[in-house]
Amino acid sequence: MGRTLSGKVVIATHNPGKLREMRDLLAPYGIDLVSAAELNLPEPEETENTFTGNARIKAEAAAKASGLPAFADDSGLAVDALGGAPGIFSARWAGPEKDFALAMEKVNNALAANGAVKAEDRVARFVSALCVAWPDGHVEEFLGEVVGQIIWPPRGEKGFGYDPVFQPEGHSRTFGEMSADEKHGLPPLGEGLSHRARAFLKLAEGCLKAPA
Ligand code: IMP
Repeated sequence: MGRTLSGKVVIATHNPGKLREMRDLLAPYGIDLVSAAELNLPEPEETENTFTGNARIKAEAAAKASGLPAFADDSGLAVDALGGAPGIFSARWAGPEKDFALAMEKVNNALAANGAVKAEDRVARFVSALCVAWPDGHVEEFLGEVVGQIIWPPRGEKGFGYDPVFQPEGHSRTFGEMSADEKHGLPPLGEGLSHRARAFLKLAEGCLKAPA
């Protein structure tokens, strides 16, 4: 068990979709959550070339600026046939308008350009790196991943980002067609399905006291 997280904690994200999911995941643990946006914390530049490195930048910056423990996630979609792209650039592929219909189309076009038509050529993974940083410099890091396939056309109106084109292995529906509970697949429903839920379960084991 690492260092236990308790009291007031900053969620260092400015992404409303991720904020909502993280709030849901942390809700049972009796932690008093405040978002980086609510505290008007600046968004640091993500200058590392790994998910883990960028999660750490965000968590450390928020912990330093707020004097509170801070929790950050960096995540994205890595497509095997595209050498792991869009990867850490997943948000950027949607452009300044955050147009994920466009980003999903770019992924599909890039796969089509590579001749990746068959399901086995369209393997992708969502990755989530979680980092908890304390103001004294201590950090804890956790990584979660879910493997699936890029389908086309997109299906489902739920979720956010690339959810409508990602069909997790062993399922016949995309994340965009699943409720948040199904997408996370947390116990007692499952053993963790989404990348974020899988990383989160590791974090819970390492840093959170079990819900009463
Ligand atoms: P970040 O804010 O730098 O971590 O960017 C992550 C980007 O990856 C998001 O903007 C989404 O486009 C994508 N992403 C991460 N997690 C998910 C997910 O659970 N569903 C769909 N897209 C995701």
